[in-house]
Amino acid sequence: KEERVQMLEALRNEMLACHKCPLGKTRTHLVFGTGNPEAQLMFAGEAPGRDEDLQGEPFVGRAGQLLTKIIEAIGLKRSDVYIANVLKCRPPGNRDPAPDEIEACERHLFRQLELIEPRLVATLGNFATKLLSGKPHGITRVHGAPQTATVGGRSVTLYPIFPPAAALYTRSMLGVLEQD
Ligand code: URA
Repeated sequence: KEERVQMLEALRNEMLACHKCPLGKTRTHLVFGTGNPEAQLMFAGEAPGRDEDLQGEPFVGRAGQLLTKIIEAIGLKRSDVYIANVLKCRPPGNRDPAPDEIEACERHLFRQLELIEPRLVATLGNFATKLLSGKPHGITRVHGAPQTATVGGRSVTLYPIFPPAAALYTRSMLGVLEQD
């Protein structure tokens, strides 16, 4: 475990100096990821929003509160799982991640997956789902069904679900999220 913690810390330090895309200039904080470095379940979101950018932690705003409820609904605590995003820096105005930003940043999420070695990755929304599955199918089509993917040479089960932020705005999605 100690070694994992150290390697994650080294990765964070590396990322603090990252300017592979322009978002490193406009962010307030790097949002590296948080939770149990030995988690069997990892959540992968899209990108930090305003609250996350201000606090330097993923899923701490309203969508984050809903994610916490989801985690508790399956009998776990936030500290049992690991939570990270595809992008580690906030896109201004919460716009979608740009393809070149994903390309520049994806190595960091892949490295986190290699170090943490979760068995199950819940992908929250289109960006994480497409990136980790390597397939173009969107969340509306693939949510709620486990799929096997090879990530960093390891087999993991992906479990795509709607992103909590979207479910806050669309009531019907909330019901689907609960079912999934
Ligand atoms: N939405 C995300 O995708 N990630 C966060 O960290 C917060 C909201």
